[in-house]
Order: sequence, then C-alpha cells, then structure tokens
Amino acid sequence: MMVSIALPKGRLGNKAYSILQKCGYTVSELMDDSRKLVFENAESGVRYFLVKPSDVAIYVEYGAADVGVVGKDVLIESGADVYELLDLGIGKCRMCVAAKEDYVEDTGRATVVATKFPRVARDYFMATNREIEVIKLYGSIELAPLLGMSDVIVDLVETGTTLKENRLKVTEEIFSVSARLIANKAAYKFKENEIREIVARMKEVTGK
Ligand code: PRP
Repeated sequence: MMVSIALPKGRLGNKAYSILQKCGYTVSELMDDSRKLVFENAESGVRYFLVKPSDVAIYVEYGAADVGVVGKDVLIESGADVYELLDLGIGKCRMCVAAKEDYVEDTGRATVVATKFPRVARDYFMATNREIEVIKLYGSIELAPLLGMSDVIVDLVETGTTLKENRLKVTEEIFSVSARLIANKAAYKFKENEIREIVARMKEVTGK
C-alpha cells in the first residue's frame, strides 16, 4: 500500500528531504524549486505532500497524510491526536520565555506574552501558576517587548542571535525542540508494515 508523507516546506523540509534520500527514497523532485505540492514515487511506494510546517500535524491527524515530519513546537501547539514515532534529531532548538535584558516580573498583575504559540504559552504559565494575557503574532515576535507591547515573548531560540541583536535574554526554558516523525492513528493500523519500514530506515539513518 502506498504511504503518503506530509513534509514541511522550507528550512526543516530541506533537512527532512536529505534524511529521506539517505533512506533510499527518491527526493530529487522535492529539491527542485517548483510550485508543485504533490510528488509520487511509485517504486518506493511513497507519495509526498509539501505543506506549511505548522499544518503538517493537521494533515496527519485528519488522515490526508499517513505520516509526517513536524517540529515538536508546532506539534504541541496543534494539539493534534497522532502517534509520535521517532525523534529525527534535526531542527533542534529551544522553546523559551525571553524578555528585555533589564526585565523584572511584576507578580501583582497578568504578564503580557507575545507569541506564535498561544497554547504553549498558556499551558506553561498555567503550570507555573501565573496569570497571562496572550498577544498572538505571526513573526518577528522579538519586536513586541522592544516596543513595550508585551512584557515577554514565548518563542524558539536556536543560536540566540536574534535575541542578542535585539538586546533580549532567555528568562526561562520551556522545552527542547526537534523534528518528529508522526503517524495518523488509523493509518498506523492498516499500513503498519509500510510505516514500520519507514521508521526502521529512518532510525538507521538518524542513529536514533
Ligand atoms: C525563529 C524564531 C526566532 C529565531 C531564532 O524565527 O522565531 O525569531 O528563529 O533563531 P536564532 O536563535 O538562531 O536567532 P524565524 O526565522 O522562523 O522567523 P519569524 O520571525 O518570521 O518567525
């Protein structure tokens, strides 16, 4: 049976394509700069869909794709009910709370948090018994505290360059992020052998 794989477009996607290539799957068409979104590789028994990174878990949850490659950050934020099969060890970074270098928390009022990850922010602050107000943004989150729009941000930190260049600092680390191979729960039952084969190959290639 053909297995369909949802892959993220962009930076993480390129790393994922290289893992697939090492696994022996044909990915040359994925590397092309075309606008095509569906690629079929009949000999390998796989079909790829290229989707926005934050949508991968949704395609898999709804069964439009059987498996997918997704960052732990967007996987948690999506709340998708899927199986997490393997840590691929790529796309490593940290989900953090960050603020201006001289920031001191005022525990007498709700902390204003700017973020692309409202669910992560709410869960984390709730677990640490602090009240927050969330401002949902879609990028350049670091600007919010600089302009006084928020007290802190909840965002990904990879090298720390963005924070440093904007005079911000990490105040708390929430969790470590890396890309995961996920599967649709029903697909994992009726395409078990095919999916296990993909997991086995990826395990070998990533040394996990
Ligand atoms: C991500 C993240 C930080 C930055 C962290 O943004 O939101 O801004 O990368 O990386 P660093 O620690 O290596 O500097 P992205 O590049 O995805 O763009 P965005 O601001 O549009 O979200």
